[in-house]
Amino acid sequence: MKLWGGRFREPPDPFIEAFNASLSFDKRLIIYDIIADQAHAKALAIAGVISEELKDKIVKALEEIKIEIESGERTINGDEAEDVHTLVENWLLEKIGDEAGFLRAYRSRNEQIACDERLYLKDETNKIIQLISGLQRTLLQLAEKHRGWIMPGYTHLQRAQPVLLPHYLLAYFWMFQRDKERFKDTLRRIDISPEGAGALAGVELDPKIKAKLLGFSTSFENSIDAVSDRDFILEFLSNCSICAIHLSRLAAEITLWASEEFGFLTLSDAVAAGSSIMPQKKNPQPAELVRGKTGRIIGALVALFLTLKALSLSYSSDLQEDKPPLFDAIDTLKSSLIATEKMLENAEFNKDKLSKFPNDYLLAVELADYLLKKGLPFRKAHQLVGKIVLYAIDKGKKLADLTINEFKEFSPLFEEDVYSFLTYDSFFKRRNFSGGTGGEAVEKQIQKAKEVLSHYG
Ligand code: ARG
Repeated sequence: MKLWGGRFREPPDPFIEAFNASLSFDKRLIIYDIIADQAHAKALAIAGVISEELKDKIVKALEEIKIEIESGERTINGDEAEDVHTLVENWLLEKIGDEAGFLRAYRSRNEQIACDERLYLKDETNKIIQLISGLQRTLLQLAEKHRGWIMPGYTHLQRAQPVLLPHYLLAYFWMFQRDKERFKDTLRRIDISPEGAGALAGVELDPKIKAKLLGFSTSFENSIDAVSDRDFILEFLSNCSICAIHLSRLAAEITLWASEEFGFLTLSDAVAAGSSIMPQKKNPQPAELVRGKTGRIIGALVALFLTLKALSLSYSSDLQEDKPPLFDAIDTLKSSLIATEKMLENAEFNKDKLSKFPNDYLLAVELADYLLKKGLPFRKAHQLVGKIVLYAIDKGKKLADLTINEFKEFSPLFEEDVYSFLTYDSFFKRRNFSGGTGGEAVEKQIQKAKEVLSHYG
């Protein structure tokens, strides 16, 4: 049964009826729709539109429906009604009869769908934040487990300077921390009730009462905006996209590091997959998929941008198209977060491969800094050390293997103490400023990360 039809002479074309319907996907919002219906019944009673008895009857019947859904006793195929709002009302009608029709007073599905989406995103935001925290916890545990492990840091994917493995892992920790902060911040703009906006012009019910009944922080400032606004979803999807980008960078590194060429880590069988033709293969498939799924999440953001572009106020059915990509992005992000955490839990880092430096050219900056300390302008020092590196490459020697006389050939500023600059130990000792990769600085970073995680959840 429909919520409209009085002014129609002909029944709808069955294909078009199915084309217009949204239940197949908005059924996901049913629990929120019921909660909003219960609040609406209460608001109607407060306003004296329905009696206390009828309100109790409606709230109780809706509660039963909710329990029946949650227990699996009541299921939704997706083609029983036009949309989730209609389905709930049809079920209420079956339970309590015609009096159910009072629930339609002073409201429109335009505000209902916005309300359902806001309630849903409040919950999903918290679930995503929990999953990100789980991933951060795993990164932190790995950082603690590999204290002091050295690895090459890269720029331009060329070996640049040594870093500590915990430092590298924690770089991702802070990326995910910012993701959580963005989700939390967006919550402020999600947490606004559109209830009371009606179709677009507002209804004779106090929006503040419904906002309070539904646990929203506040209600809308403008009824037209309330039914038209989807920026809160754009913001949410852009947070999902940024988080997915971070996951894709980590996934790309896992893929690279699991290769024979890098060999920095090995994934256990539990998180790898094989090839149907090459028996020897062990592929880092979840990492490849996390990387690939990023496109789907960003696609959802772009899809909504395009749906909203130039859309006149207020509600138009175009807005119904916000949901399938949104739901897909949420499912995809959540599964990618879980898969990434599982991969990290099942990754074994290879100390030999990580700390194997065929030469010590990664310490070339130290040599330039040494000359700077002896009074040479850095540009000159840089130039000179470039030449020393070239010389060492030609001789097939490490920097620390050059004799003091060889060094002196390049500059009289070199003295015996230059060798103390050419050890990894001294490199890390000189990197103990806040946020640096020195052992002590990283230890402080680990403590800070722990503190942030315990405060922020
Ligand atoms: N199904 C719609 C949506 O998802 C909500 C109903 C909007 N109102 C209407 N008259 N069709 O946005």
